[in-house]
Amino acid sequence: MIKSFTESKIIKKANLLKKLDMYPFFRAIEASDGSTVTINGQKQVMIGSNNYLGLTHHQEVKEAAIKAIEKFGTGCTGSRFLNGNLSIHEELEEKLARYLGHEDALVFSTGMQTNLGTLSAIAGPKDCMLFDSENHASILDSARLSFATTFKYKHNNMESLEEVLEGNMSRFKKMIIVADGVFSMTGDILKLKEVTELAEKYNAYVYVDDAHGIGVMGDLGRGTMNHFGLEDRVDFNMGTFSKSFASIGGVMSGKKESIDFIRHSARSFMFSASMPPSAVATVSACLDVIAKDDTIHKKLWKNVKFMREGFKNIGFYTYNSQTPIIPIFIGDDIKAMEVTNFLKENGVFATPVITPAVPKGEALLRTSYMATHNMKDLEYVLEVFKKAKKALDIPSIRH
Ligand SMILES: Cc1ncc(COP(=O)(O)O)c(C=O)c1O
Repeated sequence: MIKSFTESKIIKKANLLKKLDMYPFFRAIEASDGSTVTINGQKQVMIGSNNYLGLTHHQEVKEAAIKAIEKFGTGCTGSRFLNGNLSIHEELEEKLARYLGHEDALVFSTGMQTNLGTLSAIAGPKDCMLFDSENHASILDSARLSFATTFKYKHNNMESLEEVLEGNMSRFKKMIIVADGVFSMTGDILKLKEVTELAEKYNAYVYVDDAHGIGVMGDLGRGTMNHFGLEDRVDFNMGTFSKSFASIGGVMSGKKESIDFIRHSARSFMFSASMPPSAVATVSACLDVIAKDDTIHKKLWKNVKFMREGFKNIGFYTYNSQTPIIPIFIGDDIKAMEVTNFLKENGVFATPVITPAVPKGEALLRTSYMATHNMKDLEYVLEVFKKAKKALDIPSIRH
C-alpha cells in the first residue's frame, strides 16, 4: 500500500521546478487594483486573469457587495433547496434570464458546479455527449458523473462533429453537443450556427459553456448566443461569475421546464451551500454597470485589437484568437517556464500552459486583456515580450 505522495510524478516535477526557481504556480498576490498586482513587493502588469471587464475594483460594484453583507451577512449557511434561498438569488435569476434572452435561469455557487450539476442531471447511462476536444476540464468531469457515453470531435471541426452524430444517432436516447462558447486556451469562438444546424439535423441538444463569452461577447456582453443571435437554438447555456462578473458563481439558463428540472435534480446545486450575498450583489451590480456604461466594452475591444496586432507585428503565433484571450505559442514546456520567469523579472504576470494541459510540444502562454488596462502598461507588455522573443528565441510559427 502506498503511504506517501512525495514520489508521485507531479510532486517530483513541482519540486524540481521550485529548486530551479521556475515554479510558476500559486504566486501570492499581496495587493491588486485589477490590472496590476504586487508580488514580493514588485508591481506587475496582470495579463493572466479573467477579469475581462475589470469590474472587481469598480466602486459601485464594491459598494453593492458591502451593502449586501450588511443586510444579509457574509454567508447563507445552507443550500438554496433548504435554508439558503435569498430573495436576491431569485431577483438575480430573473435579471440574468432577461439579460441572456432565455426563459429562466438558475444560479450555482461556482461555474464548475454549474457544469457538474447540470450535465449529470440531464444525461444518464443511456445518453451520449459529444465534446469539442478543447472543452474545459469541468465538462470532462461532468461526463464521469453522468455515466453517459462520451465522444470527442476535433476542435471546432463540423465534419468531425457530424461524423460522430451520424455514427451514433440510433444508439442513444439523447445526444447532447457540449462545447465552450469561447475556448479558454485558444481564444477562438465556437461555430455555433453550424453546431445548431447539425443539432437540428440529428435531433441533438446544444449545451454551451460560455464561461469566457458571458460579459464579453454580443450586445452588452450577453454572450456567444447573442453574438450569433441564436438564443432560441441553444438548449442549455452556462456562464460563470468568476471572470467578467468579478465574483464567484455560475448560471445555467434555458427553457423554464428544463431549468425547473435542473433545480430539482442537480446534486451540486441541491447539496452545496448557495452563493453568498456579497457575490449575488456583485453580479447584479456588474449587470447594472455594463447596462449604463458602454465605454467598458469599447475599451476592452480597443485593448484586445491593440494587443493582437502588437503580438503579430513582433512575430508571435497567436492561434486563431478573436477574443480577449490571446495565446502565444511557445512549444517546449521548459521554454514556457523560462519565458514566464523572464516576464516576471520584468514586471509582467502571465501564466504558462504546459503538458498535460496541452499535448507535448504545444506549450503556450495564455495572455488576456481587460477594459481597465491602460495604454502605457500594454505598450510596456509588448516591449517586454519583444525582448523575451529575442533573448529566448521564441518561435514565430507553430511547429
Ligand atoms: C470554460 C470554463 N468552464 C467552466 C469553468 C469553471 O468556472 P468557475 O471557475 O467559475 O468554477 C471555467 C473556469 O476556468 C472555464 O474556463
